[in-house]
Amino acid sequence: MRTTRFSVLALAALLLGGALWAGGALGQAQRFPALGALPPVPAPADNPMSEAKVQLGKLLFWDTRLSGDVSTSCATCHDPKLGWGDGGALSRGYPGTEHWRNSQTVLNSAYYAKLFWAGEVTSLESQASAAATGNLAGNGDPVMMEERLRQIPEYVRRFKDVFGVERPTIGMAWMAIAAFERTLVSKAGQVPFDRYAKGDQSALSLEAKRGLALFQGKAGCIQCHNGPLLSDESYHNLGVPKHPAFENTPLRQITLRYQHVIRGVPEKVYRSADGDLGLYYTTKLEADKGKFRTPGLRELRYTAPYMHNGVFGTLEEVVEFYNRGGGDDPNKSPLVRPLGLSEQEKKDLLAFLLSLSSDRPLIVEPPDLPDYAPMKVEARP
Ligand code: HEC
Ligand code: HEC
Repeated sequence: MRTTRFSVLALAALLLGGALWAGGALGQAQRFPALGALPPVPAPADNPMSEAKVQLGKLLFWDTRLSGDVSTSCATCHDPKLGWGDGGALSRGYPGTEHWRNSQTVLNSAYYAKLFWAGEVTSLESQASAAATGNLAGNGDPVMMEERLRQIPEYVRRFKDVFGVERPTIGMAWMAIAAFERTLVSKAGQVPFDRYAKGDQSALSLEAKRGLALFQGKAGCIQCHNGPLLSDESYHNLGVPKHPAFENTPLRQITLRYQHVIRGVPEKVYRSADGDLGLYYTTKLEADKGKFRTPGLRELRYTAPYMHNGVFGTLEEVVEFYNRGGGDDPNKSPLVRPLGLSEQEKKDLLAFLLSLSSDRPLIVEPPDLPDYAPMKVEARP
């Protein structure tokens, strides 16, 4: 499934004229799906895009009534001004909790087949539901959230307009939010690397061009960060060190142990594990402990800090980490090894990474939210 999706992306890039290096003399590049501009955003057949749906989804993304105590909206942890994350190394949580992972950017999340740091959910629709109802994010009861939507005349009107229904349902709310998220992508022509991929030689500096060659050659990044999204959508363990804030914060340790219990981790592992087990939660295979989904590398300029636990505040730190051969973990991928990059080469790699971000951040202003209104029993949808 993953492979199929991949080749679709790679093929689309090829058709769009973005795939420049597949046959080039750049080290390992030809063994991997080519880098290039992103293809149009895929939308599932049962949730087609429309402008009205996107506008509804935008309202819902900011609406705290889609959480238990009406304190927390998606935008609380995915703030456009903070790269659509929450800016912290480790995410805030629903009141009374603090997350043990970093709040991911939602930029370009529309392109992944698996979402979350360890790929736990498979669509934006189910992701939105998981976020709004999950105890660490929205902690909302679906029936209660649905009743709230039905008590807001403007939503009743908009749901009817978009979905042709008399009564908003919570499932439709997730569909609208997913449609909105499908518009939060790197826009054509905005990203220097994409302009270069389409033939504008002047779009990349000399440094960035050398960085691209390193990325695909000596530094070996292409082994995992490939295709237009710069992700193989597979899972690897890099030995990313723990974040000190995790070590010092009881609330974060509680949420991690909570995760261990609800994901059915065996008693022995529950007692001994003091770190994020990543893909293991899903597979329960020893070899998958500490593996995470390869994130794409677009828009990094705006999405610091980095890694599943935000342990690196800057891209310079990330490059240093790879240069010394990653961290220390029994499951560490053999693909991560000391690189021996010179100071200039590190700068070149960094310049290339920055060329994968839009010239300006994608900012959406918070919308004005519609109000509740008292309704007579017979008028209730
Ligand atoms: C309390 C903070 C918080 C709230 C509220 C929240 N999120 Fe998140 N979001 C996170 C964290 C943390 C992650 C990473 C979780 C993980 O890997 O387990 C995440 C991951 C995601 C991802 C995955 C991105 C990727 O590349 O895989 C998407 C999409 C997303 N959130 C959308 C939403 C939507 C939609 C809502 C509202 C319904 C929402 N989030 C509410 C903190 C939050
Ligand atoms: C073995 C596969 C692999 C290789 C090789 C690799 N990466 Fe990664 N990369 C990953 C994975 C997996 C993560 C997420 C790890 C985590 O959060 O624990 C990641 C995370 C990152 C991040 C952080 C992204 C974010 O949004 O937080 C950056 C930046 C990055 N890699 C750049 C590079 C560069 C530059 C190279 C080459 C020097 C490289 N990677 C080589 C798999 C790889």
